[in-house]
Amino acid sequence: MKILITGGAGFIASHVADAYLEIGHEVVIVDNLSTGEKKNLNPKAKFIKADITDKKKIQEIIRKERPDVINHHAAHIQVGYSVKNPQFDAENNIIGLLNIMEAAKEIPIKKVIMAATGGAMYGNKVTPFNEEMKAEPLSPYGISKRAGELYLNYYHELYQIPFISLRYSNVYGPRQNAHGESGVIAIFAEMMAEGKAPVINGDGTHTRDYVYVEDVARANVLALNSDFVGELNIGTETEISTNEVFRKVATEMGAEIEEKHSAERPGEQVTSSLNYSKAKEVLGWEPRVNFDEGVRRVVAWYKNR
Ligand SMILES: NC(=O)c1ccc[n+]([C@@H]2O[C@H](COP(=O)([O-])OP(=O)(O)OC[C@H]3O[C@@H](n4cnc5c(N)ncnc54)[C@H](O)[C@@H]3O)[C@@H](O)[C@H]2O)c1
Repeated sequence: MKILITGGAGFIASHVADAYLEIGHEVVIVDNLSTGEKKNLNPKAKFIKADITDKKKIQEIIRKERPDVINHHAAHIQVGYSVKNPQFDAENNIIGLLNIMEAAKEIPIKKVIMAATGGAMYGNKVTPFNEEMKAEPLSPYGISKRAGELYLNYYHELYQIPFISLRYSNVYGPRQNAHGESGVIAIFAEMMAEGKAPVINGDGTHTRDYVYVEDVARANVLALNSDFVGELNIGTETEISTNEVFRKVATEMGAEIEEKHSAERPGEQVTSSLNYSKAKEVLGWEPRVNFDEGVRRVVAWYKNR
C-alpha cells in the first residue's frame, strides 16, 4: 500500500514509518520540520517538506501522491502552549486535518489513522480510562484532538472513509524530543546523560501511563488491516509516578543524583492510565515492552548517541 504519513520526521511517526517500510509498504512523509528532524527520516521513504496548514500545498501533495492510507501524526503537541495560544493549536490540529481530509475525500482514500490523546481526553475521572467514558478534555490541545475525531466521524458518515483514532497514553522511546514540556523520560535521560540534575515538578507523586514507542508503532501496523472504525486507547493500564521514573532512569544511567523538587505546575492532572481491552479485542494489540525494559532501551540510546 502507499501510505502518506504526516509528521513522519517526528518521534512517534518516524517509528511508524520504519515499521511500515519494514513490511514492504511505500511511504511518503510530509513534515514541516518544526519539531521533527531530518535525521529521523527513513531513507527509503519519500520526503516532502510541507506544512499542513498550507491548504494549497498539502492538497496538491495529496492529489498528486494519491495514497491508499493517510497516517496523521503531524500536530502541535504542547498542552501548556495550547492554553497560551489556543488559536495556534486549533490552526494546526483542526484546520490542518480539514485541509487534508477535504483533498482525501476526492481521491478517495481507503483509511485514515490518526494519533489522538488518551492522557488529555478524559478529564479528571477515576483511572483507568476506557473509551466508553465521556471525552471531557480540559485543554485546547485535548479539545482539538477530540474535534479531530468528531470530524473523522463526519467524513466516515458522509464519505464512507474509515478511520481509527489511536488515543495514546504517554509515549516514550528513542528519538523523543527532550526540549518540550512533555516527555519526562527523554528530559531526565538527556539531562542525566549530560551529567545534569533534573528537577521534578511538584512532589513527584503524580502518575502517568507510559507506553513504549515500538508498541505504538505496532498498533499503527495492526490498524492498517482492521475493519474497526472509531477510537482506541493505546496504553498499558499501569500507573508510574514521576519519582519512580526519576529513580529508574538514574539507576539505569548509573547516576547518583539527589532528588530535587520544584513547585507544582498548576492544573496538572494527578493520575492517568488507559484501559486497552478494546484495542486487544479489535486489533489483537497489547503492550509487549514493560517499563523496566523500555527505560533500559532509552537510556542505552541516550548513552550511545
Ligand atoms: N508523545 C506522546 O506521548 C503523545 C501522546 C499522545 C498523542 N501524541 C500524538 O502523536 C503525534 C506525534 O507526536 P510526537 O510525540 O511524535 O511529537 P513530535 O513533535 O516529535 O512529532 C510531530 C511531528 O509533526 C511535525 N509537524 C508539526 N506541525 C506540523 C505542521 N503544521 N505541518 C507539518 N508537520 C508538522 C513536526 O515537525 C514533527 O515532526 C502528535 O499528533 C501527538 O499529538 C503524542
